[in-house]
Amino acid sequence: MWNSRALLRLLSLLRYLLLFHSVLPLVSAQGSNTTSWNTLSGSPPLVIARGGFSGIYPDSSDIAYSLAAQTSLANVILWCDVQLTKDREGICIPDIKLENATDIGHVSEFKSKTYSVNGVQTSGYFSVDYTLKELLSNVVLIQGDYTRTNRFDGSDFPILTVNELVRRETPNPSGLWLNIQHDVFYAQHNLSMKNFVLSVSRTVNVSYISSPEAGFLRSLRALVKPSKTKLVFRFLEKDKVDPSTNQTYGSLLKNLTSIKTFASGILVPKEYIWPVDPTSLYLLPHTSLVSDAHKVGLEVFASDFMNDISISYNYSYDPVAEYLNFIDNGNFSVDGVLSDFPLTSSEAIDCFAHIGLNAPKQVNTLIISKYGASGDYPPCTDLSYGKAISDGVDVLDCPVQMSKDGIPFCLSSIDLIESTNVAQSSFSRLGKTIPEIKSGNGIFTFDLAWNDIKSLSPLMLNPHSMNNLYRNPEYNKKGQYLTLSDFLNLTKAHTSTLSVVIIIENAAYLARKQNLSVTDAVIDTLSRAGYDKPGAPKVMIQSTNSSVLLKFKEKAKYELVYKIDEIVGGAVDSAISNIKRFAHSVVVKKASVYPVSELFAIGSTKIVSKFKSSNLSVYVETFSNEFVSQDWDFMSDAYVEINTFVQDAEIDGVITDFPKTANRYRRNKCLNLGEKTPAYMEPVAVGGLLQAMDKSLLPPAMAPAPPLTEDEVTEPPLPPLSKIAPSSPISGTQAGAQPPHNAQAQVTVCFFLSTLTVLVASFLF
Ligand SMILES: *[C@@H]1O[C@H](CO)[C@@H](O)[C@H](O)[C@H]1NC(C)=O
Ligand SMILES: *[C@@H]1O[C@H](CO)[C@@H](O)[C@H](O)[C@H]1NC(C)=O
Ligand SMILES: *[C@@H]1O[C@H](CO)[C@@H](O)[C@H](O)[C@H]1NC(C)=O
Ligand SMILES: *[C@@H]1O[C@H](CO)[C@@H](O)[C@H](O)[C@H]1NC(C)=O
Ligand SMILES: *[C@@H]1O[C@H](CO)[C@@H](O)[C@H](O)[C@H]1NC(C)=O
Ligand SMILES: *[C@@H]1O[C@H](CO)[C@@H](O)[C@H](O)[C@H]1NC(C)=O
Ligand SMILES: *[C@@H]1O[C@H](CO)[C@@H](O)[C@H](O)[C@H]1NC(C)=O
Ligand SMILES: *[C@@H]1O[C@H](CO)[C@@H](O)[C@H](O)[C@H]1NC(C)=O
Ligand SMILES: *[C@@H]1O[C@H](CO)[C@@H](O)[C@H](O)[C@H]1NC(C)=O
Ligand SMILES: *[C@@H]1O[C@H](CO)[C@@H](O)[C@H](O)[C@H]1NC(C)=O
Ligand SMILES: *[C@@H]1O[C@H](CO)[C@@H](O)[C@H](O)[C@H]1NC(C)=O
Ligand SMILES: *[C@@H]1O[C@H](CO)[C@@H](O)[C@H](O)[C@H]1NC(C)=O
Repeated sequence: MWNSRALLRLLSLLRYLLLFHSVLPLVSAQGSNTTSWNTLSGSPPLVIARGGFSGIYPDSSDIAYSLAAQTSLANVILWCDVQLTKDREGICIPDIKLENATDIGHVSEFKSKTYSVNGVQTSGYFSVDYTLKELLSNVVLIQGDYTRTNRFDGSDFPILTVNELVRRETPNPSGLWLNIQHDVFYAQHNLSMKNFVLSVSRTVNVSYISSPEAGFLRSLRALVKPSKTKLVFRFLEKDKVDPSTNQTYGSLLKNLTSIKTFASGILVPKEYIWPVDPTSLYLLPHTSLVSDAHKVGLEVFASDFMNDISISYNYSYDPVAEYLNFIDNGNFSVDGVLSDFPLTSSEAIDCFAHIGLNAPKQVNTLIISKYGASGDYPPCTDLSYGKAISDGVDVLDCPVQMSKDGIPFCLSSIDLIESTNVAQSSFSRLGKTIPEIKSGNGIFTFDLAWNDIKSLSPLMLNPHSMNNLYRNPEYNKKGQYLTLSDFLNLTKAHTSTLSVVIIIENAAYLARKQNLSVTDAVIDTLSRAGYDKPGAPKVMIQSTNSSVLLKFKEKAKYELVYKIDEIVGGAVDSAISNIKRFAHSVVVKKASVYPVSELFAIGSTKIVSKFKSSNLSVYVETFSNEFVSQDWDFMSDAYVEINTFVQDAEIDGVITDFPKTANRYRRNKCLNLGEKTPAYMEPVAVGGLLQAMDKSLLPPAMAPAPPLTEDEVTEPPLPPLSKIAPSSPISGTQAGAQPPHNAQAQVTVCFFLSTLTVLVASFLF
């Protein structure tokens, strides 16, 4: 049925399925009897993997199902959307139009047709026109969702029949869920879904059969054993009509007792339970659907869980927070979730439910804020700092800027345009270009007095606006900026648990050109706040410039943190011994740990272990919740990313704009379980996804980033304050010059790295 090349590849699947460091353990962490659930049965909710791990691999492909089985709860249910071929075979394809998830539209033998589907004339490629053999020998599965990666489309994943799916997943005890979206349509083509599911049930255990057509489920009711197969009525949008009853789903919802006469459960879009305001994207109060359904004895399954879509702002882009709202809200729990990312559903249920923010810490990784909780509130405001503290941050960060009148204060950038409304204020005339600081125009803090800066409105940072992902607009222009002294006063109340990191950049420019000594201002403010006294809370001083840290080394006993702001592939020994002269720890970027090409990790460097073996702690930035900020390897899951950096790279601290996520991570129940660690809390084998790609679709191999050298670390000492009055460069001079960095620019020329190609080829052929 498959050509031999495809078969060979399938054999090698076994090898690239070992994406996770350890294979699925025999003993799952699930099943501890200590917690009770508000599900109908009292058991933990089920995870139903829609088309397998369809968030990563083509929907309904063998590899997607295997990855789901391997990375989810041991009792994960595999979901198949059944379509029927001309010769009455049932195949798993997510949509009645085959071009939605296969390459059939590009195969010349096949022609598009137009049929009535639920009364709507619909053009496309339909399985009723082809035999199984015709489909299997010409058509393969591809990614149907344009927002997901299409790099697996060349890997010839065959269409699976229901029987083949079961056969391949057989050693695994997982359950099977058949969704029959269209019985009426297939009946119009003389194909019987009923006969198909009955014949399948004779040979395999089908745990659930769902359909949005009540007539179909009624016709099955007397024919399946309820103890073996449960029937589930699927609700679609409320104004849509069930073609088997001619009633809208909205009206069917009004009588759950009547649903109970032919089904034991319902499957509803998640908004039926937690509605979202369509314009503000805020979560509305929950409906009473789950408790109403439980009252009449119906199980409730919720659909449309995906890590890679915008979810309500109330969840701060954290899909685990969303799951917890459905399964652990103190009032009710759904009985199962239908997910494209079953790993995330599994960890939510097994690792994160029923723990509070005060559960014991399982790992000691430091959590360092990035401008406070700037994922939730405007950066460096009282609001973002307050949230970071209540979210459990260990180290609160203040990037120090100087006002014209010499007041040190906290702001994410020396350029006010980046985080305030200054461009819309009367100060917009102060715009100028200072190539030593940044390319392009800016309005700089040292040109405004503190009282004027204080009057500006703080703006939300939106680092992922290019992907149309915005942070909660409700908090735009909310909050107050703090002087360094206010900041220290704020943190002092929490000194037993909280440290601070003071970040100093542009010190040389400020001294030379603006007659402002940011280092003296910081030393002075810390001292006045008593932070230089014995027993004072821990203070860290961070800079990309060694001369700043050396100055602090002379003066006080703070932890000195050297930030390497370029992507580096390592550090030469002499650079490390040089860094040790002035720093106790370093900050590196994520891509310096796991180099990346087009959002696929392509390996790992030794940089963390190298610094650590020289007694330098390693903190990594920036960990965010938005899925576009994570490499594909981390499955669009912020917890998988943090977990891999912590357990595989063994970093000492995460720098994050969503401290709540990092804090939740380190308190989850699935850490420190040794051999019993479930697969969903294992670090991923970084780079493993490349092995499932056809080599023509591999992301470009990058030249390894050069290591940090001693020259890049060494800097002349800070200059004295200027003898001449501060003068400003004329707008536009030296335009195009780049601000200096501590390491040379990354080489981005693409070429095929021969070892990578050989490695991948050895897996594929
Ligand atoms: C949990 O309860 C079941 C029966 O309800 C029992 O068989 C099992 O041993 C219990 N497990 C633990 C860890 O207590
Ligand atoms: C497949 O269907 C989904 C859901 O209707 C849609 O978002 C997607 O664009 C479709 N893809 C293709 C290739 O038709
Ligand atoms: C279905 O079968 C009936 C009678 O057996 C026949 O009249 C009809 O044309 C068939 N319809 C299709 C779409 O094949
Ligand atoms: C179906 O499940 C039952 C019990 O759960 C098991 O005994 C039986 O072997 C299964 N049948 C098949 C075909 O897997
Ligand atoms: C639904 O409506 C269609 C067209 O109005 C009709 O042909 C069909 O018999 C109706 N079905 C039911 C179950 O009422
Ligand atoms: C709901 O359905 C049940 C069973 O079909 C029926 O007995 C009852 O009258 C219905 N209730 C309403 C309010 O329509
Ligand atoms: C969601 O967030 C908005 C804005 O903060 C708030 O008004 C609303 O009450 C929240 N919704 C829920 C269900 O908590
Ligand atoms: C829980 O349910 C009770 C009544 O059943 C209701 O008063 C309460 O507001 C609910 N709490 C939450 C958090 O939904
Ligand atoms: C420090 O904060 C306290 C309240 O937390 C306040 O009473 C005090 O005035 C503040 N001191 C300064 C110098 O801002
Ligand atoms: C690191 O620190 C430990 C203890 O403080 C010390 O024993 C060790 O020699 C140090 N290693 C290096 C490479 O400095
Ligand atoms: C670091 O500071 C020195 C002054 O101490 C300055 O000359 C140098 O340009 C700075 N380096 C960078 C990369 O900004
Ligand atoms: C530079 O600042 C100091 C105070 O920090 C001041 O005494 C001095 O007059 C200033 N120099 C010039 C040239 O403005």
